[in-house]
Amino acid sequence: MTRRQLLAATAPAVAAVPLAKLALDKPAQAATPHVHYPGMAMDAPTHAAMHGHDVPAPGGPKALDDLLHPPPVLPHKPGRVREYELTAVDREIEVAKGVFFNAWTYNGTVPGPVIRATEDDLLRVNFTNGGSHPHTIHFHGIHPAGMDGVFEIVEPGGSFTYQFPARPYGMHLYHCHATPLKKHIAKGLYGAFIIDPPEPRPPAQELVMVLTGFDTDGDGENNFYGVNGPAFYYAKYPIRVRRSQTVRIYLANLTEFDLINSLHLHGDFFRYYPTGSSDHFEYTDTVMLCQGQRGIIEIDFAHTGRFMFHAHQSEFTELGWMGFFEVVD
Ligand code: CU
Ligand code: CU
Repeated sequence: MTRRQLLAATAPAVAAVPLAKLALDKPAQAATPHVHYPGMAMDAPTHAAMHGHDVPAPGGPKALDDLLHPPPVLPHKPGRVREYELTAVDREIEVAKGVFFNAWTYNGTVPGPVIRATEDDLLRVNFTNGGSHPHTIHFHGIHPAGMDGVFEIVEPGGSFTYQFPARPYGMHLYHCHATPLKKHIAKGLYGAFIIDPPEPRPPAQELVMVLTGFDTDGDGENNFYGVNGPAFYYAKYPIRVRRSQTVRIYLANLTEFDLINSLHLHGDFFRYYPTGSSDHFEYTDTVMLCQGQRGIIEIDFAHTGRFMFHAHQSEFTELGWMGFFEVVD
């Protein structure tokens, strides 16, 4: 039974079924095709109930802080070196409460660490392959062919240094480009890559959101979705922001298998700068992203309170891609 057949068979709630039912190796075991969470009734307005401490999500309240909050912006200074260490590691990670996934990671997390530089910085990324398969790092942006992460395959135990001036400014991404590409991305080798403009953006509460998906049963479809990793994390731990200052989100879609993903915000509109590389923006509450598409969102919240954000594909929402902002004065 595929994930979509499984979801299509979902009937109104009658009993609680552990989340892990969706992640079973043997399809026959997924005989009860229903997902239910504590405090959630399928025929009620489920979104309202699906937040706070009862939500089943792995990790503690600060577990994703390093992925949510980017490194600080530095003023423009041509020739400065920005150096990062990335190591590919095979690691089992918890992608939903009680559901584990044999990931291929950069530095142990999916997504990998946020890489940030200011335009014209010399970016130097020292890559070591501590995994069991050949890997690379392919950066989006402008760089020489020999730094592209396509030809210089790094075997297990090997290393490679990527070095080039960071440009153009914008929200970018990096990912492994070893073959089969689909597998290396789906396994978790990707992350956010921010290049700041020479003239800094105005101060803001800055957040990074990398859209993730996990195929936990190996059938070529994602069973769980999330932001910066695990399913339902920001439903359990809403992101606290202030109404008085712009919220800036560096957003990228890295989900494999599905043709598109999206982000929809409740209760407000935002400015969306595609790729973040110009002043051009769209004023909207929903953006659609193909794999590899990314941009920058700026929100000036009009109201305090708890506002949901989620994929506008309802199926993704129900499989973990949802969260909340807690807007305070
Ligand atoms: Cu790889
Ligand atoms: Cu790419």
